[in-house]
Amino acid sequence: MESKVLKMAKHFLFAIILHGAFALTVVVHSQDQLGKDRNYLIRASFMYGNYDGKGKTPTFDLYLGVNRWGTVAVSDASSTISKEIIHLSSSEDIYVCLVNTGYGTPFISVLELRPLPNDTYIPKSGSLELFDRANCGLSFSIKWAHITFVSIRYKDDVIDRLWSPFGASLWRNISTIQTVDSSYNSYQLPSVVMSTAVTPLTTNDSIGLYWSPDNATSQYYFYMHFAEIEKLQANQSREFNIFLNGKLWYEALSPSYLAATTIFSRTYRTKPDNETYFQIWINKTETSTLPPLLNAIEIYTVNQLLQAQTDQKDVDSIKNIKSMYRIKRNWQGDPCGPRDCSWDGLNCSYSNFDPPGIISLNLSSSGLTGEIAPFISNLTMICFHRSFTTF
Ligand SMILES: *[C@@H]1O[C@H](CO)[C@@H](O)[C@H](O)[C@H]1NC(C)=O
Ligand SMILES: *[C@@H]1O[C@H](CO)[C@@H](O)[C@H](O)[C@H]1NC(C)=O
Ligand SMILES: *[C@@H]1O[C@H](CO)[C@@H](O)[C@H](O)[C@H]1NC(C)=O
Ligand SMILES: *[C@@H]1O[C@H](CO)[C@@H](O)[C@H](O)[C@H]1NC(C)=O
Ligand SMILES: *[C@@H]1O[C@H](CO)[C@@H](O)[C@H](O)[C@H]1NC(C)=O
Ligand SMILES: *[C@@H]1O[C@H](CO)[C@@H](O)[C@H](O)[C@H]1NC(C)=O
Ligand SMILES: *[C@@H]1O[C@H](CO)[C@@H](O)[C@H](O)[C@H]1NC(C)=O
Ligand SMILES: *[C@@H]1O[C@H](CO)[C@@H](O)[C@H](O)[C@H]1NC(C)=O
Ligand SMILES: *[C@@H]1O[C@H](CO)[C@@H](O)[C@H](O)[C@H]1NC(C)=O
Ligand SMILES: *[C@@H]1O[C@H](CO)[C@@H](O)[C@H](O)[C@H]1NC(C)=O
Repeated sequence: MESKVLKMAKHFLFAIILHGAFALTVVVHSQDQLGKDRNYLIRASFMYGNYDGKGKTPTFDLYLGVNRWGTVAVSDASSTISKEIIHLSSSEDIYVCLVNTGYGTPFISVLELRPLPNDTYIPKSGSLELFDRANCGLSFSIKWAHITFVSIRYKDDVIDRLWSPFGASLWRNISTIQTVDSSYNSYQLPSVVMSTAVTPLTTNDSIGLYWSPDNATSQYYFYMHFAEIEKLQANQSREFNIFLNGKLWYEALSPSYLAATTIFSRTYRTKPDNETYFQIWINKTETSTLPPLLNAIEIYTVNQLLQAQTDQKDVDSIKNIKSMYRIKRNWQGDPCGPRDCSWDGLNCSYSNFDPPGIISLNLSSSGLTGEIAPFISNLTMICFHRSFTTF
C-alpha cells in the first residue's frame, strides 16, 4: 500500500481590507438574538501598508477582553495578518484590545464579529483559535476563471467563515454541479465548499495530513465535513475510517449523496509526546471499492482565556462614576484588564484567576477639569468596544 502524505500549510486567508490610519470596521451580517452566552466568530485583520509613512512594521499584543489572544507580528507592509477566534461571550460586551508592547504603534484594519449557531463549535473549555480552514478540491468558478487562490466567504457562507482552496498534485480534485444540502447540518456549510473534494489518485491510497505543532502541548479540535459528490453505481461503495495519530477516531463513515455530514471532536487532542507530527489519516475500509474523500476541514487550537473580567459590581460603579462626573478619560474596555493596562487612575487587585477588583481611584490628575483629548496613537492601550444592543 502506497502512502501519500501532505504537509498542511497554515494558510492566511484573505478578505477585504480598509486602509487608513486607525480605520476600524465592524461588519455584522446576521442580526438575530445578539447578546451574552452566545458563540461568536471574531476576526481581526491587520495590513500595515506603511500607513504612517514610517516604514517600520510594528509588533504588538492582541487581547480579547482581559485575556491575551496573541501577538501580531507584522513582517512586511503589504501582507495581511488575520486572527480568528470562536468565543462564547459571558458578558453583554466584547472588547478587542491592542496593546503597545514597546515595538511600535498598534493598528487594526478590520474587526468582524459574527454570531454562530448555538450548537456548533463548542469546546469543553476555552475558546477556539483558528489553525486552518480548508475547502478541498477546486470549485468550478475558480477553475474557469483560472484564479488560483480565492477564498469563499459570505454570502456563500452565511456565517462568513473564510474557506481557502486546498489541494495537491497527489490528490484528484473532484466536483459536482449539483447542490449539496446542509439543511440538516447545523454547521451550515456552503454548497460551493461541499461540492468539491479531494480523493487519492488510486483506490488503495489514503488521505494523510500532518503538521508539526509550534507548541507541543497545543490542544486541537477538528471539524471535518463530508458529502458524497459522485453518483455511485450499484456495485460501488465508499466507506472509510478516520485516524488521529494512529488511533481510530471515526469508524466506517459512508457519506450520503449530496448531503453534508460533519465529524467533530467533543474533546481536544494533543500530539503524542513521542511523535514529531500531529497526523490525520483517512483510510478506506477493506470492503470499500472507492478511495476516501474529504470535502472540507477545520482545525482549531484551544486558548483557555482564563483571566476573568473585572467584578461586575465594580464595573457598574466605575461606569456610574464616569458618567456622573463626566470624566473625559479614555476609559474603555475592562477597567482592570488587561493587567498592566488598567484604566488610568485605577488601582486594581489581582489574585490568580479570580475577577480583579478595583481598590482605589485617583482622579487628581484633573480628569474632572481640562478635557483630555485622547489621540489614539498616543495611548498604550486601544480598546474597541461594541455593545450588542447597538448593532
Ligand atoms: C492509513 O493509511 C496509511 C497510508 O496508506 C498507512 O500508512 C496507515 O498505516 C493507515 N492507518 C491505519 C491505522 O491503517
Ligand atoms: C439554541 O437556540 C434555540 C433557538 O434559537 C433554542 O431553542 C435552544 O435551546 C438553544 N440551545 C442551546 C444549547 O442554548
Ligand atoms: C488539484 O487542485 C490543486 C489546486 O487546488 C492543484 O494544485 C492540484 O495539482 C490538482 N490536482 C490534480 C491531480 O490535478
Ligand atoms: C487494492 O488492495 C486490494 C486488497 O489489498 C487488492 O486486491 C487490489 O489489487 C489493490 N488494488 C490496486 C489498484 O492496487
Ligand atoms: C503551550 O500551550 C499550553 C496549553 O495550551 C499553554 O499553557 C502554554 O502557555 C503554551 N506555551 C507557549 C510557549 O505558548
Ligand atoms: C460495476 O458495474 C459496471 C457496469 O454496471 C462495470 O462496468 C464495472 O466494471 C463494475 N465494477 C466493478 C468494480 O465490479
Ligand atoms: C509512540 O507511542 C505509541 C504508543 O505508545 C506507539 O504506537 C508509536 O509507535 C510511538 N511512536 C514513535 C514514533 O515511537
Ligand atoms: C495600589 O494598591 C497597592 C495595595 O494597596 C499599593 O501597594 C500600591 O501602592 C497602590 N498603587 C497605587 C499606584 O496607588
Ligand atoms: C494621584 O495621581 C496624581 C497624578 O498622577 C499623583 O501625583 C498622586 O500622587 C496620586 N495620588 C495617590 C494617592 O496615589
Ligand atoms: C503624541 O505624541 C507625540 C510624541 O510623543 C507628540 O508630539 C504629540 O503631540 C502627541 N499627540 C497628542 C494628540 O497628544
